[in-house]
Amino acid sequence: MKYVVIMAAGKGTRMQSDLPKVMHKVCNTPMIEHLIDVSKEAGADKIVSIVGYGSEIVKKAMEGKCEFALQEPQLGTGHAVMQAKQLEGLKGKTLVINGDTPCLNPETLTKLYDELDDCSMVVLTAIPEDASAYGRVIKNEDGYLERIVEFKDANEEERAVKEINTGIYGFDNEVLFESLKEIKNDNAQQEYYITDLVEIIKGKNKKVKAVLANNSEEVAGINDRVELARANKYMQRVINERLMESGVTIIDPDNTYISKSVKIEKDVVIYPNVHIQGNTVIGENTEILPQSFIVNSKIGKNNLIDSSHIVDSEVKDSNYIGPYAHLRMNCVVENKTRVGNFVEFKNVHFNDLSRSGHLTYLGDTYVGKDTNIGCGVVTINFDGKNKFRTTIKDRAFVGSNVGLIAPITVGNDAVVAAGTTANRDVEDGDMAIGRVTQENKPGYGYKYKNK
Ligand code: UD1
Ligand code: CA
Repeated sequence: MKYVVIMAAGKGTRMQSDLPKVMHKVCNTPMIEHLIDVSKEAGADKIVSIVGYGSEIVKKAMEGKCEFALQEPQLGTGHAVMQAKQLEGLKGKTLVINGDTPCLNPETLTKLYDELDDCSMVVLTAIPEDASAYGRVIKNEDGYLERIVEFKDANEEERAVKEINTGIYGFDNEVLFESLKEIKNDNAQQEYYITDLVEIIKGKNKKVKAVLANNSEEVAGINDRVELARANKYMQRVINERLMESGVTIIDPDNTYISKSVKIEKDVVIYPNVHIQGNTVIGENTEILPQSFIVNSKIGKNNLIDSSHIVDSEVKDSNYIGPYAHLRMNCVVENKTRVGNFVEFKNVHFNDLSRSGHLTYLGDTYVGKDTNIGCGVVTINFDGKNKFRTTIKDRAFVGSNVGLIAPITVGNDAVVAAGTTANRDVEDGDMAIGRVTQENKPGYGYKYKNK
């Protein structure tokens, strides 16, 4: 069996935050969630997250995605793993991962599981450009791993070592739990260090090895917000490159923000400063112009989406949305429609060939096929207490500057004349007109201007 322990109980003091460190987001997903995802991709049968500082926040956010064990108080990384009591005595391979290394690839974890076929412990190491305060990997003359020394405990010679501990390890599970008992806290921070297991397990005449990571950016630990921003950049580049390789055009990958959960089909073109998040799918040949923000939405093929916000909604095929449209709360826009400038839809079903070109609010509304919604149409759907529905049927024509006081139905082929405030249903084929009668006063214009 394959297990993973994610160490996520620390506060992350250097983040200067009330939020537990592992809840900070990289490419819009909490660090810990990235690690749970890659663990699953690497085939883990059971994942235990060690929580402590802000444990309720972490548990609530990750509920159902993994198991939890509480570490209270937090006495170090070795002490953290001891809390995973549900793994004690089980046969199998266990990876232990620092909760602050969000950019890990599943392939790296798979490789560590494989390495455990012929050793009892493996340490993933790296040679970053700046070894900063990482624990140093100390090897003997033959190049074998001897021990790991924390930066704070290291002497000058040890600090000069370039190879560092990434905080990602693999163990034979039974060896892990019997060895944890032997860790002591006689060090600079008076903590129980997981890194002491190198010497403890070697002392049992079992094989321990170091494996160098291919890429030090992938395994970098996040301790402050500068490193968080760096991880964001790195992970966004990985996500965007994967999308480009699969046939998506991203005009400026340094300025395009897409979460890893997003699925994008080929020949989609994405302009700079676009944000796409959550459970979103974008269909073939759709173009997304700058400043668009799309969350948890399903976008079909051949759409043009210009500088618009689309949240929790569906846009089917061949629509022209924007610029500056806002679709939210379960909108469904069918095919070949036009939803134009400064138009807001909330919970609207908008059928084929219908048009709403400018400056409109539709809320809780059904719009049939081939219907025209003029400029400045407003559904008046809220009386301060309750929301009411508006239905506008097929081929209707709603003129400009119309207020529709819901609940109201406008029938098939019905017309609502411009400037009308309608509070009664309009039957199929009828016209509603309700305007204040206009009066013209001859010469008053000149008089007003004193001519
Ligand atoms: C740790 C390693 C160091 C390594 C570095 C890589 C130890 C002793 N040191 O140092 O060798 O180079 O990671 O990034 O392990 N945590 C708990 N409970 C605790 C303490 C920490 O769950 O009691 C968790 C933290 O939430 C964090 C992870 O363990 O996700 C690492 O802790 P952190 O304090 O960041 O360790 P480093 O000092 O970076
Ligand atoms: Ca760290």
